[in-house]
Amino acid sequence: MTVTKRIEVNAGKPYSVKIGKGLLDKTGEEAKALGLDGKALIISDDNVAALYIEKVSASLKEAGFEVFSFVIPHGEGSKSAENLIAILEFAAENSFSRTDTFFALGGGVVGDLCGFAASVYMRGANFVQLPTTLLAAVDSSVGGKTAIDLQAGKNLAGAFYQPKFVLCDTDTFDTLPDEEFSNGMAEVIKYGMFCDGEFLDILTENNTDIESIIARCVQIKAKVVEADEFDKGERMFLNFGHTVAHAVENLSSYTTPHGSAVAIGMAVITKAAIAMGKCENEALEILIELLKKYKLPFECPYGVDEVFEVTLKDKKNAHGKITLVIPTGKGESVLQKCDYNELKEIITLGLK
Ligand SMILES: NC(=O)c1ccc[n+]([C@@H]2O[C@H](COP(=O)([O-])OP(=O)(O)OC[C@H]3O[C@@H](n4cnc5c(N)ncnc54)[C@H](O)[C@@H]3O)[C@@H](O)[C@H]2O)c1
Ligand SMILES: [Zn+2]
Repeated sequence: MTVTKRIEVNAGKPYSVKIGKGLLDKTGEEAKALGLDGKALIISDDNVAALYIEKVSASLKEAGFEVFSFVIPHGEGSKSAENLIAILEFAAENSFSRTDTFFALGGGVVGDLCGFAASVYMRGANFVQLPTTLLAAVDSSVGGKTAIDLQAGKNLAGAFYQPKFVLCDTDTFDTLPDEEFSNGMAEVIKYGMFCDGEFLDILTENNTDIESIIARCVQIKAKVVEADEFDKGERMFLNFGHTVAHAVENLSSYTTPHGSAVAIGMAVITKAAIAMGKCENEALEILIELLKKYKLPFECPYGVDEVFEVTLKDKKNAHGKITLVIPTGKGESVLQKCDYNELKEIITLGLK
């Protein structure tokens, strides 16, 4: 086992993100080294549990933990109030205390649900992220946003709650379906697009290892989160491409995966920025090249009116204004507050 990368995140109580091969075998050792002990609740989905829960469980037992597991069906539908309550009841039935630890083993669905459950269990149990998708590795496992979905929409109940540590075992990507890898790459490309032109160049070449790619994304995310843990300003940059993405996900009844929707959203906003004379063509060229390379879509299948209507219902739309991340060049962007008329104009330009 070699730890290839380590990044510190100074949000909440500072914690480290380790990225490398074979790290799941070290889960127990890492937890113990941080002073965690007692009971461990591994939360995972059926796909991931079948592949990796034994490994994590064995490692935790070896480190002296009493290990329990709770497995949910895979898919967004599991980020539900029902599963949240079921996990809390399970922890209570098994006499978990606040000093015990919840381990999220899986993608963003498991991470968001497990993190939220940990945040409310006895007003806050310990929580560890073990991301097994590229999307979770570069985005959802770092930064402390946790959530479940409500009937009215995605992520409508949640908490800011930072993990004790994050272990990203890149060996788990060996079993990740190609489509899921591509979805994660959409978020990777997002980081380059909003703030890191050099990273875009690296991504167009073929000689970078996945650990370095994840580490660069985590470094960017850590910096943004450290500047704005509670999403009042700087953190909005992480929403690059996401306004239209949320509309696409919603209009497809969540059959379009998040990463694919983000790919479309990034293309739409970049086209709009160019049409408004705010962005260089080069930014769109490199974006499309990367989206093609990672087999991601970039044409929006929906019309202006439907995208606009759904966007108005977005929870980030506050007091008649919505903040958009507008690219201004390769690896550069600005935040722009728009009223509804401006928003409609921008969507119209992006969908032309
Ligand atoms: N909290 C945040 O900051 C944040 C950020 C971005 C996204 N999210 C959330 O993340 C969720 C999406 O996460 P996701 O894309 O990881 O999806 P996911 O958790 O649904 O995982 C995708 C699929 O891959 C399977 N899988 C996971 N790891 C695997 C592996 N190693 N091998 C084989 N199969 C594996 C899962 O079982 C699932 O079917 C959404 O709910 C989104 O809202 C949260
Ligand atoms: Zn996203």
